[in-house]
Amino acid sequence: MDHSAAFQEYEQAALAAIAAAADADALEQVRVEFLGKKKGRLKDLQAVVGKVSAEERPVVGKQFNEVKDKVSAAFEARKSDLNKPQAAAAGLDISLPGVVPRLGKRHPLSQTMDDFKDIIGRMGFTVAEGPEIEDEHHNFVALNIPEDHPARDPLDNFYLSAAAYANGQAPERLHLLRSQTSTVQIRVMEQTKPPIRIVSLGRVYRPDTIDATHSCMFHQMEGLMVGEGVTMAQLKTVLRLFATTYLGQDVRIRFRPSFFPFTEPSVEVDMSWSDDWLEIGGAGMVDPNVLREVGYDPDEVSGFAFGLGIERFCMRRHHVTDIRRFYENDVRFLAQF
Ligand code: PHE
Repeated sequence: MDHSAAFQEYEQAALAAIAAAADADALEQVRVEFLGKKKGRLKDLQAVVGKVSAEERPVVGKQFNEVKDKVSAAFEARKSDLNKPQAAAAGLDISLPGVVPRLGKRHPLSQTMDDFKDIIGRMGFTVAEGPEIEDEHHNFVALNIPEDHPARDPLDNFYLSAAAYANGQAPERLHLLRSQTSTVQIRVMEQTKPPIRIVSLGRVYRPDTIDATHSCMFHQMEGLMVGEGVTMAQLKTVLRLFATTYLGQDVRIRFRPSFFPFTEPSVEVDMSWSDDWLEIGGAGMVDPNVLREVGYDPDEVSGFAFGLGIERFCMRRHHVTDIRRFYENDVRFLAQF
């Protein structure tokens, strides 16, 4: 082959291969093939130079060096391109001084709820959701709370239409801000067959007088497990494992007899941590009336339910002494978590 045709073919093939090399490995292969010193296409090209006549050699040798330099330069340029960080390749100047990011933080209660979901999730509980605006059926009726029960008193609930209530509208048709997350128990059981293992975390509303330990809005974690042969011992085990995982091995759990219309038997759950007992919520075995209401057979399945106050845990864990701090949006407070 004529030497200038050979130079041209080499140059075109080399430049195309360099441009096509997608990463450093591919480029290295191109280097070995086109610029390798021991063998490869540059060596072949050198052989062509060796064959030309003595008079022609200086000119052809110069051409050879020019082609070689051009390909080498293209190789180096591609190499430094591939080494550049992506940002620079995209036209960003990463050598500019940084701007301190104004990043926010998860609210301590959101962090606590994330932790809760994580811990209880390891015991097989999945997260269920329910609305904050509820009807009386889910907030009371299906939970075995009769119409004359004090928990349904308009003064103890945020009914959305007190006027309709006064006008004698059927109470079941009224809506209210849910006073407990137990509503989600009903919603889940209405839609699913046992076995069930869920938690539901969210806001509840009660017209309490606001002070360091009370708020008219707070958060609960509801738990529900229904299946064949579910027992109270399992309830206590789940709550103990949950509390020790979140707060530490020295935490103890205590049940005190209590009453809730939707559980039988019912208990208050206390937790001891550094020698102090703290009430953290209510629990019990799901009342057969509740199981029947959602179409389950209480002779076939049993279940337990619990409702824990999320603020209580979070306050205890982080030594927060006033619940109102959580809702004031004071960055100096929130930034500490
Ligand atoms: N819903 C009850 C409350 O808010 C707590 C509870 C939940 C009790 C589940 C028993 C079972 O006080």
